[in-house]
Amino acid sequence: MNKKIKGVILAGGSGTRLFPITKIISKQLLPVYNKPMIYLPLGLLISLGIKDILIIVTPRDLPLFKKLLGNGINLNCKIQYKIQKKPNGIAEAIKLSKSFFTSKKILLLLGDNFFFGNNLDKIIIEAINSPKGASIFTYKVNNPQRYGVLSIRNNKIVNIVEKPKKPTSNRAIPGIYIYDKKSISYVNNQKPSKRGELEITDLNNRYLKNNDLEIFDFNDGIIWMDMGTFDSYLEASQFIAATEKRQGFEIYSLNKSNG
Ligand code: TTP
Repeated sequence: MNKKIKGVILAGGSGTRLFPITKIISKQLLPVYNKPMIYLPLGLLISLGIKDILIIVTPRDLPLFKKLLGNGINLNCKIQYKIQKKPNGIAEAIKLSKSFFTSKKILLLLGDNFFFGNNLDKIIIEAINSPKGASIFTYKVNNPQRYGVLSIRNNKIVNIVEKPKKPTSNRAIPGIYIYDKKSISYVNNQKPSKRGELEITDLNNRYLKNNDLEIFDFNDGIIWMDMGTFDSYLEASQFIAATEKRQGFEIYSLNKSNG
């Protein structure tokens, strides 16, 4: 078990882009081809050797997550749950993880993000071992307006901007972040944004300003999909179906006897 780092999966949120389905059930419990969405981030953490895991859920969905995953014993990991009463933003996960955060660093993973590919584990482990207080990643996208994006001026990263109208780069920040304990006091001092959320981009900018942020680029061999829209959700299902059938193995297979 990796003692330097624990994992937190954010599986709350309201999933409005998948309404009406998510009016009755968490997005992260929906099937992606042959497995519940939560298996994908969970499988990634387990494959990294991060087996001490906190899952952030809504009060409505807690019983279903417990029924599916239990305390993790059958999945060869340890799972705890924390309720997020309202979707107050991704950075609120740091506050909710305060008593869980006994390791040097914590890895935050969005429950609707799918990562897969060559050398993925190598680059994430390098990021965990970075001497900087926080590490984030970038991924080249065609539609940076949809994401948190690096703002670059004169070849220098000056800022991270959430959903920029005029992006200055195509390097989006995917939903995987690594923080040390300073993040707790930073988030405690953070104010909600105009949309009423504690923004992860504000936290990342704080580390960037302090020259305490390391940014790693995911290369072309890595797949990142955010499954939060009908199209991207379908594409992830199709990708997993095609890969599993062609290559004859199951992506992020977890022990199915649990339940
Ligand atoms: P989003 O996709 O930004 O938000 P959402 O899931 O509520 O969906 P929508 O925009 O369609 O309404 O969230 C990204 C991930 O983070 C997703 O897995 C849900 C999770 N999340 C939380 O757990 N708590 C939060 O407060 C927020 C905003 C998101």
